[in-house]
Amino acid sequence: MKLNTSIAGIDFDGFAYNACGVNDEILKQLEKLGDSDSAAILLKSCSIEPRKGNENPKYIVKSNLIPGCTLNSMGLSNRGLEENLSYVDSLKTTNKKPVIASLTCFSKEEHLILFKAFQDQGKADLIELNFSCPNVGAHGLIGYYPELVDEILTQLDTTKGNIKYGIKLPPYFEEWYFDKISDIILKHNVGFISCINTLGNALVIDAEKESTVIKPNFGRGGLGGDWIKPIALSNVNSFYRRLDRKISIVGVGGVRNGKDAFEFLLAGADSVQVGSAFAQESYPIFTKIHNELNQILESKGYNSVQEAKGKLKFL
Ligand code: DHB
Repeated sequence: MKLNTSIAGIDFDGFAYNACGVNDEILKQLEKLGDSDSAAILLKSCSIEPRKGNENPKYIVKSNLIPGCTLNSMGLSNRGLEENLSYVDSLKTTNKKPVIASLTCFSKEEHLILFKAFQDQGKADLIELNFSCPNVGAHGLIGYYPELVDEILTQLDTTKGNIKYGIKLPPYFEEWYFDKISDIILKHNVGFISCINTLGNALVIDAEKESTVIKPNFGRGGLGGDWIKPIALSNVNSFYRRLDRKISIVGVGGVRNGKDAFEFLLAGADSVQVGSAFAQESYPIFTKIHNELNQILESKGYNSVQEAKGKLKFL
């Protein structure tokens, strides 16, 4: 069965692709994504100028302290706008897959400049505005300030070209946020949402060493992987019930096998991004997820991902 889907009107040949921030900072890694079974190529969030990011150690990929999870405080390290534009250019000439640019979030002004640059270039298939990086203080967590989200989206000139954009959201835990953010999304020309980003400012302690395990931010960073899946599913479904099927939903958080992807599909996702499991299991993870999802759909008698989408039963 083909696991094809579409995000904001762009066709994807598969259901799973990389989450922002994992193996996506330099061209070589992005080309490998092109060669893998990843359904798309998502670039690391870029700023106008290159950034080195935080001090090492800043990324725990495998640890018995947080089995199945990761902890990162990369601090938005990236190669800057010019180089990222050249990545898109290069990937679009060598690759058929959708290429998605991701934009950092340090100020309203920077957002507008970055957005316009990719829009003017006109080669990326989609743009993801990262409103939820927890590792650079309140700058990154725009998603927790609905008025600011509204203001930024109001200022984007989305009429030029026809590049579609979406927003990467932080995890929400209150009904109020789902209501408020859904209203804003529906008011603007948002094509898709990706939810959720890592759980911000998580502290992991090594009791043996009586120490933190990463250096930045008093040992705190974004928690990803197995433990966050129930929160990600809840966020996907909470938005799915409010967004009236008009806006594509990309599920992110704890996807490591076909069953996880199927759960996101039932909750209402149009596709999934894979972060921690991609960091832990590398490029074959996409083949594995696709094969397993295919098997599950076939065994349950679904003929496409669309047939299963949002089919979650409530007790
Ligand atoms: C970073 C962290 C994120 O959670 C993200 O979505 C993008 C970037 C970072 O710290 O670099």
